[in-house]
Amino acid sequence: MSTAEETKVEVDKEKEQEDYVDPWTVTASSQKGVDYDKLIDIFGSSKIDEALLERFKKVTGTEPHHFLRRGIFFSHREMHRILDLVEKGKSFYLYTGRGPSSDAMHLGHLIPFMMTKWLQDVFDVPLVIQLTDDEKYLWKDLELGTCRKLANENTKDIIACGFDVNKTFIFSDMEFIGGEFYKNVLRVQKRVTFNQVKGIFGFDDSSVIGKIMFPAIQAAPAFSSSFPLIFGGKKDVPCLIPCAIDQDPYFRMTRDVAPRMGFEKPALLHSTFFPALQGAISKMSASDENSSIFLTDTPNMIKKKINKYAFSGGRDNIEEHREKGGDCEVDVSYKYLTFFLEDDEQLENIRQQYSSGQMLTGELKAELIKVLQKLIQDHQNIRQTVTDDNVREFMTPRKLNFPYDVVQIDDDLGKKGKGKKKEKK
Ligand code: TYM
Repeated sequence: MSTAEETKVEVDKEKEQEDYVDPWTVTASSQKGVDYDKLIDIFGSSKIDEALLERFKKVTGTEPHHFLRRGIFFSHREMHRILDLVEKGKSFYLYTGRGPSSDAMHLGHLIPFMMTKWLQDVFDVPLVIQLTDDEKYLWKDLELGTCRKLANENTKDIIACGFDVNKTFIFSDMEFIGGEFYKNVLRVQKRVTFNQVKGIFGFDDSSVIGKIMFPAIQAAPAFSSSFPLIFGGKKDVPCLIPCAIDQDPYFRMTRDVAPRMGFEKPALLHSTFFPALQGAISKMSASDENSSIFLTDTPNMIKKKINKYAFSGGRDNIEEHREKGGDCEVDVSYKYLTFFLEDDEQLENIRQQYSSGQMLTGELKAELIKVLQKLIQDHQNIRQTVTDDNVREFMTPRKLNFPYDVVQIDDDLGKKGKGKKKEKK
């Protein structure tokens, strides 16, 4: 990735009129959703292609997760570098996060956490999860105490995704920031100008100063030296960040600034958006209740919401539907099944039956309702067992079960990086 691409941080204003993606807003110009190929061009990332999936399979000896096989995770930055390391028997760590703005997380939030859990299992690596309770205080009309409390509630949902407590550190910004972490925040703050963050995040003269400095806080966990207890002060443990592509602006900035701090650039895996019930014009968002299925919804609520709101690619009447078939490209229930129905054969069967008109919208919705009721019920059953003690355990700064000395920077990288790695200030 060239520096020119890295610094291509401003979304082309003309293209904004078609699709718009930033950490707070996602809108698409058509029911088919965001044009992700175009987004790759605009953001300057790389497509997850067959070659990468093949390599993934070869290096890990594991069939890639269906999120990867089906293009739900569609874009990356330097995933090949991570696979190079693994091939050489070296390690890396995972970093992801959540901005706790609501009690209940929705299905869209599960996507990066499910992927991260799978990556943790496959690569057997440590993971840090940032809860940006500070971000939500700055952006939303919420009290400090509320944001902190929501962070704990969300932590229970995150733990319920099955992360390994011996390899996972979850932290609230309000509680944890200090020491080496804060030094890295400062290092970023000294190297990024107001002009740059205006370009990246759209801040203007009326933006409160907390917002202006916040991106440095989301950048810091991508540097291993922010976690001396976990990485023993090593500053060269590579980081891989799974997230939806809305978070990429933070990490374009992080990758841009990293070499100037003598640090490694983090690698990324980007997912598409889990669409709102009303259609792929917008992403599922916690601030619009009717657009979302929450992890706290009852089986009956799930059924009602899908039957009432899920945008249908079916035809106006049964005769026309039988003749022309449903349109899977815009049908929200079908799209949801691509995320959560793991069985490829069953999914293909449904696709064929629906698009040939054999299956009606009501029948498709019934399939989805079954899948989601089970998924959410299973999640709720596990979450119920997560105690405050479990939360404390995951959130206590501590050593993880990770032999950080197995991570050695590649000789070539070390040599190349020597000049760069010396921090001037
Ligand atoms: P937040 O809380 O908005 O979202 C948490 C994670 O969920 C992803 N996401 C979605 N994925 C698919 N479909 C959707 N509809 C959808 N909505 C949200 C987000 O991309 C994110 O991965 N600032 C961040 C918190 C954060 C973070 C990070 C996220 C801090 N450090 C590192 C990812 C990686 C936030 O408010 O996320």
